[in-house]
Amino acid sequence: MKQDELVSIAFEAMKNAYAPYSGYHVGAAVLCRDGIVFQGANIENSSFGATNCAERSAIFAAYSNGKRKNDIEAVAIVSDGDRVCAPCGICRQVLSELIPMDAPLYLSNGKESLTMTLGKLLPMAFGMEDVIR
Ligand code: THU
Repeated sequence: MKQDELVSIAFEAMKNAYAPYSGYHVGAAVLCRDGIVFQGANIENSSFGATNCAERSAIFAAYSNGKRKNDIEAVAIVSDGDRVCAPCGICRQVLSELIPMDAPLYLSNGKESLTMTLGKLLPMAFGMEDVIR
């Protein structure tokens, strides 16, 4: 699947964002090596800390359907913000355990786009190997 197509699927997911508090809409699409794509959107809550970001919604959907780290090929993350939405700190930590560090992350707000990796966004990540010795 082409990058543009995955980004469009993320923009489709963004339409499902539930963001009555921030008004900031985010969509994500996780592409698996078998071609299956899982979508996610940000889902806010009146107890703000209970909010789930779009990229976590999407990767949790992939894992909930049996996919694992090496099944993940690429992730698109899009927003309606003024600049591209780089994953928040919690998402960087979560994604660092669940997707390959070198998987392309396509970021777009429809005006600008950027390709990133978790390796670049979260160097020296704390991970499973630190905990399980
Ligand atoms: N948000 C995401 O969905 N992904 C990010 O990486 C950054 C923030 C959401 C959470 C909240 O619903 C809104 O954007 C404003 O923070």
